[in-house]
Parts: sequence; C-alpha cells; structure tokens
Amino acid sequence: MKVVAISGSPRNPGNTVTYLNAVLEGIKGQGMETSLISLAGKNISGCTGCYGCVEAKECVVKDDFQEVFQAMVEADAILLGTPVYHGSMTAELKAVLDRAGFSGRWANNPMKEKEESYTWGGCVFSGKIVAPLAVARRTGQVFALAELLVWANVNDCIIPGNTYWNMGVAGKGGAKDALEDKEALSIMDGLAQRILHLLEKLNQ
Ligand SMILES: Cc1cc2nc3c(=O)[nH]c(=O)nc-3n(C[C@H](O)[C@H](O)[C@H](O)COP(=O)(O)O)c2cc1C
Repeated sequence: MKVVAISGSPRNPGNTVTYLNAVLEGIKGQGMETSLISLAGKNISGCTGCYGCVEAKECVVKDDFQEVFQAMVEADAILLGTPVYHGSMTAELKAVLDRAGFSGRWANNPMKEKEESYTWGGCVFSGKIVAPLAVARRTGQVFALAELLVWANVNDCIIPGNTYWNMGVAGKGGAKDALEDKEALSIMDGLAQRILHLLEKLNQ
C-alpha cells in the first residue's frame, strides 16, 4: 500500500517536511511504500475556474500539478501538511487541493442540468485515508487543520483520529526547529500508528 505526504511549505527542508517525515518514519517498513512530495519550487497555478475538467475529466491546465495529482490518486493514504500562513494553509497547498478536488470530482460524474440536484457517484479520492497536519510559530494550526479536514470531508475521504491535533509549534524567526517540539513528535508517532491501523482494517 502507498502513503504519500504532501508538504505545502515553500521551504524544503523545513518544519512541515520534518513532521511529515516523522509520520512516514512510523509507517514505513511495515509493507507500506512511503513518499514525500514537497511543493517547494513547483510551478502549480491556482484553479483558473475554466471548467475544462468537466468535459476533459482531468485538469486541463498543464504544469507541475499533474505529477502531484497522480501520486495522490495512486495513494491509499494521503498526508496533507502545511505551515500556517496568516491563520490558513499556504497558497501552494490550496492550489493543489482546489484543482485536485474539482477535477477529481468530474472524473467520475457527468455535469447535470443546472436545475437538477447533483447525485455524485464518488470521486477519485473516495475511500482514501487523508490526515491533516499543520505547523505554526505560535497559533493558527486548528484553523488550518479545519480547512484541510473540510477538503477531506467533501472529497469522500476517511479521516484518522489522534489523541491531540496533528500539529507542531516551530519556526520562530524562521527557524527550522521542528525537532525541539517533543510533544509534536509523539503526536506524529500516534498519527502514524492510527494510519497503519486504519490501512490494515480497511484492507482485511
Ligand atoms: C507569510 C507567513 C505567514 C505566517 N503566518 C503565521 C501565522 O499566522 N501564525 C503563526 O503562528 N506562524 C505564522 N508563520 C510562521 C510559520 O508558520 C512557521 O515558521 C512554520 O514553522 C514554517 O514552516 P516551514 O518550515 O515548513 O515552512 C508565518 C510565516 C510566514 C512566512
């Protein structure tokens, strides 16, 4: 089974990448294939709202998005990690999630007449495990986590629980000091165990 982590930070290495790797560390070596994709330096535009995916069944804007989307589609579990920027996820991650969620929806559904209510037949993410992760210097993690959870929820995903929010406190003055938050490292380990448990249960 495949687990992919996506870092929405424009920095690699950085705190988000460190925490995502901590989760992957707890998952790998148990018959799981893990990988990390950093959005740092990638050329990925925001959704242009062209609706080209309704007909084409794929995002028609061609840039680095396609490789990220492909990895998400192939994964059984997806970790979405972001630093908190002004209380939210980063623009880099939002761009990917807007395009992945919208084009991934039309891949399995025809456009209906305007007056009809939609009856969605699932999307490319249906049944996948999606776990959010956020890191901030001081605050805003739960709001950013909520944004990621809203995406996972409307994309028909299964969200693992944990005994604390999947968050770290790091980055004062731009420091890359994620490893100093020991509680965060234990939270990441707990998340890894829960993702493993869910993957095993879902594939019994
Ligand atoms: C543009 C910008 C906005 C930020 N906004 C917040 C914020 O709202 N709350 C906060 O606590 N930290 C904020 N930070 C700090 C980062 O969340 C923090 O440094 C984080 O550890 C960076 O993660 P990274 O190393 O993965 O990029 C901001 C940093 C930048 C550059």
